[in-house]
Amino acid sequence: MALQARLLLPFFIIMLSSAISCYSSTSQPNPVLRHFGHEESGHDSQAYSSYFSNIADGDFKDLIKAVTDALSLKRFVRVGSISSTTSIKTVNVDDFGAEGDGTHDDTEAFMKAWKVACSSQGVVDLVVPQKKYRLKPITFSGPCKSDLTIQISGSIEASDDQSDYGEDGRHWLLFDSVQNLSVEGGGTINGNGKLWWQNSCKINKDLPCKDAPTALTFYRCTNLIVKNLKIQDAQQIHVSFEKCSNVQASKLTITAPEESPNTDGIHVTDTQNIRISSCVIGTGDDCISIVSGSKNLQATDITCGPGHGISIGSLGSGNSEAYVSGITVDGAKLSGTTNGVRIKTWQGGSGSAGNIKFQNVEMYNVTNPIIIDQSYCDQDKPCKKQGTAVQVKNVLYKNIQGTSASEVAIKFDCSKNFPCQGILLQNINLKGQAGDQKTATEALCNSVKLAYAGVVSPRCP
Ligand SMILES: *[C@@H]1O[C@H](CO)[C@@H](O)[C@H](O)[C@H]1NC(C)=O
Ligand SMILES: *[C@@H]1O[C@H](CO)[C@@H](O)[C@H](O)[C@H]1NC(C)=O
Repeated sequence: MALQARLLLPFFIIMLSSAISCYSSTSQPNPVLRHFGHEESGHDSQAYSSYFSNIADGDFKDLIKAVTDALSLKRFVRVGSISSTTSIKTVNVDDFGAEGDGTHDDTEAFMKAWKVACSSQGVVDLVVPQKKYRLKPITFSGPCKSDLTIQISGSIEASDDQSDYGEDGRHWLLFDSVQNLSVEGGGTINGNGKLWWQNSCKINKDLPCKDAPTALTFYRCTNLIVKNLKIQDAQQIHVSFEKCSNVQASKLTITAPEESPNTDGIHVTDTQNIRISSCVIGTGDDCISIVSGSKNLQATDITCGPGHGISIGSLGSGNSEAYVSGITVDGAKLSGTTNGVRIKTWQGGSGSAGNIKFQNVEMYNVTNPIIIDQSYCDQDKPCKKQGTAVQVKNVLYKNIQGTSASEVAIKFDCSKNFPCQGILLQNINLKGQAGDQKTATEALCNSVKLAYAGVVSPRCP
């Protein structure tokens, strides 16, 4: 532990100083109050510190606690303590010619409504009433002059005519460079992905592999809230946060069939300070996938299944450099997923994935409940052996219970040249299941430096 703490120190100092500079910029009242005003904190720093009280080494404990507090996105809470009374301007898509009959193309009407909403001063609600709107790919560009909320009560359906996606092909609904945005309202976003799935090379091996659109993308957005929405049947990824900061995603229900290819629920890339909470996600791919450039992510109260579980990675594909740090998954239920909590990296990459916590996780019939896979390979040709790897370090697995669908409940398959370091397993109980019987499981451990605390079953041989 002492060694671990020393290795961690430079890293924590960087993290803390960036966290501090980030707080100081929020000490002024600002116009986003309306958005953040009714968010409850949901964070209990007391509880966090007690998580580590069982770990003997004082240095390690204090360092981790400090970072955990920094990760807790207190800025949202702080901003919320001030209240504002501002009049709200309402912009309704129907006033710009949207039909909302489910067949007519409403793209132009939405574009016009967006332009008005985005260029208005002050507080604006862009309203999507309780009807069925059909949209081609559309980009909602910022920056806006307004503090904008999109209230989706009805449903927004994707055009399933693939020729509509010609220009870009990677996005359906795209928010680009918008600040202080909230997207909410209890409505539905439907990607109508069936045709895309059928034309995926994962389903039809004769077809070339092409990316399909992400249903909902937030690109370079700051101070963003996405909450209380149903998102279903995306063409590929359901919701993607790319190069965003200060994000709250909550109360999202994301569904697609188990067989739908690459339909990740929530994808996070190059994004900092993001909290994902109270989401129910069942799709054909990762429940949440967290990839390079992501820092300070907290996921709480997440229900997954079916799908591929919660995943950090894949990282390091095509010999790339990848960095992921400050990831906490606290409170998750996974059932029938192929993985539980996973870190996956390709051979030949570089960089690191560190300061990661998976805690208070329940698994039911999960094929690989705990897995680090450093020879991940998702391509037709087998991947050739390569010496370098993304360094995986300082990962805590705590209070993880339930059942594994396979005998190997814990699998650490780390790089020979860059072994996984600082892996801590604390209070783990994963059993197999044969009918009503609980059966023994095992752990498979290659090139991993790990420690145990509390009762851990299974353990490495
Ligand atoms: C968004 O909020 C920030 C403060 O967090 C403020 O400086 C900025 O002016 C706001 N932008 C808009 C468009 O309201
Ligand atoms: C458990 O998962 C396996 C494989 O995913 C599946 O075949 C089996 O039916 C599941 N069992 C239960 C009880 O859900």
